[in-house]
Amino acid sequence: MSPFDELEQVRADALDALTACTTLPALAAWEKQYLGRKGQLTRLTRAVGTLPKEERPTFGKRANAIKQELTAAHEARLAQVKQEALSKDLAQGAVDVTLPGRPVALGHLHLTTQTLRQLYAIFAQMGFEVYEAPDVELEAYNFDLLNIPAYHPARDMWDTFWVRDEPHSEARRLLRTHTSPGQIRAMRERAPQPLRVILPGKVYRYEQITTRSEHQFYQVEGLAVGRTITMTDLIGTMHQFAELFYGAGRKIRVRSSYFPFTEPSIEIDTDCILCGGKGCSVCKYTGWLEIAGAGMVHPVVLQNGGYDPAEWSGFAFGLGVERPAMMKYGVKDIRYFYGNDLRFLRQF
Ligand code: PHE
Repeated sequence: MSPFDELEQVRADALDALTACTTLPALAAWEKQYLGRKGQLTRLTRAVGTLPKEERPTFGKRANAIKQELTAAHEARLAQVKQEALSKDLAQGAVDVTLPGRPVALGHLHLTTQTLRQLYAIFAQMGFEVYEAPDVELEAYNFDLLNIPAYHPARDMWDTFWVRDEPHSEARRLLRTHTSPGQIRAMRERAPQPLRVILPGKVYRYEQITTRSEHQFYQVEGLAVGRTITMTDLIGTMHQFAELFYGAGRKIRVRSSYFPFTEPSIEIDTDCILCGGKGCSVCKYTGWLEIAGAGMVHPVVLQNGGYDPAEWSGFAFGLGVERPAMMKYGVKDIRYFYGNDLRFLRQF
């Protein structure tokens, strides 16, 4: 038989054999036998070298055409066999189409987000709207307009991440060290209307990371400006917050403090949620937990915000987010909030 005839013979045999294949393993064996590296067609194709030169192109062309034909025929047969197998399975009831699907693993909100939303809800009840301010802030908003000039020692209270792109610019930028610069932004947008906002968001400090402090954390700032606002309003708001967040019956304690942008300034504690004031390791045996820095908005800050301090007054407070969540949920280490450890996250 000439190699040309052999080629046609292999083709005919292969097509016959293919129709006889009714299972996937049979099809795989067929593929190996005819199209495989050591298959019949492949072996024949290699015989091209034994042919006279002028016949080689015709032979090669034909061999290729057959290879393509067989490959396509194999694919078609494969699809057919699979389809038949499926129909058979279905007819036998092997596939129970009423079985529920595999559940998709659902995530949930991060403890920080959950805590933030609790805070939003609590302050919404008291008429505070959420006001967003930028994380990358102008130096003037973070410091100067809040009554903290460059020479002021209070700048040392915040170790700062500076943005390096404009070192000599008037408009130096930094990662905000607190949410208080949002006070200026909110006031400048709303003046001379009364306002009641909370300013949530991340703040950044160039600090040693420990179990109690991170270089980034959340704060929720509060600001109320009106014509008759007094310290009593501030204390009442903080008491209400303590009861709604930590539970009914909470007491608060007010201590005097210092912030450049409030006058007078206070620090607010709540009686320890764990021991109720008797003293324990959570409150370090003081019976009290610090919950906020606060005070009456400094007249200079009111003015910088566009309000005449002779007519307007206001209060401001700054709450942490992670620390209250730590107290409420018994989290011992603030680093868990940023560790992305599912064993931690799944607990909440
Ligand atoms: N910005 C202050 C801080 O980060 C907290 C604060 C806010 C104090 C508002 C008073 C009024 O420490």
